[in-house]
Amino acid sequence: MLIVYLSLTGNVRNFVRRTGFDSFELSYTNPLSEINEDFIVIAPSYDDDITEIISSFIDYKNNQDYLKGFVGSGSLNYDDKYCFNAKDLSLKYRKPLIFTFEFSGTDNDIINFKKEVNEFGIASVK
Ligand SMILES: Cc1cc2nc3c(=O)[nH]c(=O)nc-3n(C[C@H](O)[C@H](O)[C@H](O)COP(=O)(O)O)c2cc1C
Repeated sequence: MLIVYLSLTGNVRNFVRRTGFDSFELSYTNPLSEINEDFIVIAPSYDDDITEIISSFIDYKNNQDYLKGFVGSGSLNYDDKYCFNAKDLSLKYRKPLIFTFEFSGTDNDIINFKKEVNEFGIASVK
């Protein structure tokens, strides 16, 4: 399984590196890349642009066929807008919101993220 992600200030990139999964970083200016294997998307939270950029990636060629779910990175200071981009994408594409974490996540978040990925049957990890 591949992690596809967007990262504007590096928090999501940092989280992804610590998971040890293969990954692909989307370009904010040109997200149209073709993926031919199962993937999840980790989205940071900013404004509706993020949902649009990730949607254009998912809608590109056959990418949607391989989409397994979403993960959000955000800040709880945003209350009801916490991780709203990942939540919106989950509703739009009817795929599970697998996990959310603040900023680049704690070591416990990495462990729990891997547990969730296992439980959703998306990938087998230790
Ligand atoms: C201008 C700005 C707006 C943000 N808006 C939200 C938000 O609406 N909801 C949320 O949960 N986090 C929000 N955040 C927090 C970021 O999503 C969080 O820091 C995230 O880890 C950034 O990931 P990145 O460094 O990979 O881009 C915002 C941060 C900034 C700087």
